[in-house]
Amino acid sequence: MITSRLLLREISRSKSIRFLSSLTSFEPNPEQRTRELIDKIIRVDQAGELAADRIYAGQMAVLGRTDVGPTIQHMWDEEKAHLAKFNELIPKYKARPSVLLPLWNVAGYALGAGTALLGKEAAMACTVAVEAVIGEHYNNQLRDLMEHADQTKDKDLIETIKKFRDDENQHHDTGLANNAEQAPFYQGLTSAIKMGCRLGIYVAERI
Ligand SMILES: [Fe+2]
Ligand SMILES: [Fe+2]
Repeated sequence: MITSRLLLREISRSKSIRFLSSLTSFEPNPEQRTRELIDKIIRVDQAGELAADRIYAGQMAVLGRTDVGPTIQHMWDEEKAHLAKFNELIPKYKARPSVLLPLWNVAGYALGAGTALLGKEAAMACTVAVEAVIGEHYNNQLRDLMEHADQTKDKDLIETIKKFRDDENQHHDTGLANNAEQAPFYQGLTSAIKMGCRLGIYVAERI
């Protein structure tokens, strides 16, 4: 008898807790979740394209007058167009830019110039590493957008990311075609750069 009374009391207590927590807990609705997803996507992509623009600027400062100069210039021009597009999408979607833009700017340039100083193969190895991570990152975003975004309303964003993903894959292949694998410490260098890029993505998605 006592046990069943205790049991009843426990059930009603847990019901009240559930009821109270349903009043206080905050579950974002699907529309809000999509808005947050797009906000994150545009923030990290603007930051990433800024870093890419600066990487190629750094490479050009060191290798601009060598035989790989025109190849780097071509990739740089595409990065400038990518950055311009995300600069346009930030106000369009009222997305919050990364507060660390000055850091991505400096880090990108240092990475580009630093690897270029090790030689053109190391600069190309940097390109291979960065572009591999960015290509994979854009593919992950496309998967999320296919699942959660409005395929009509967000068509421009989806098509933009598809196009940029293809450009980044081409940059990756250009790096390989320009002897990236002959860089000193190719494996270690590319692994370290990839790790840095993934960390950068993680941070820029959030702050
Ligand atoms: Fe890019
Ligand atoms: Fe690229």
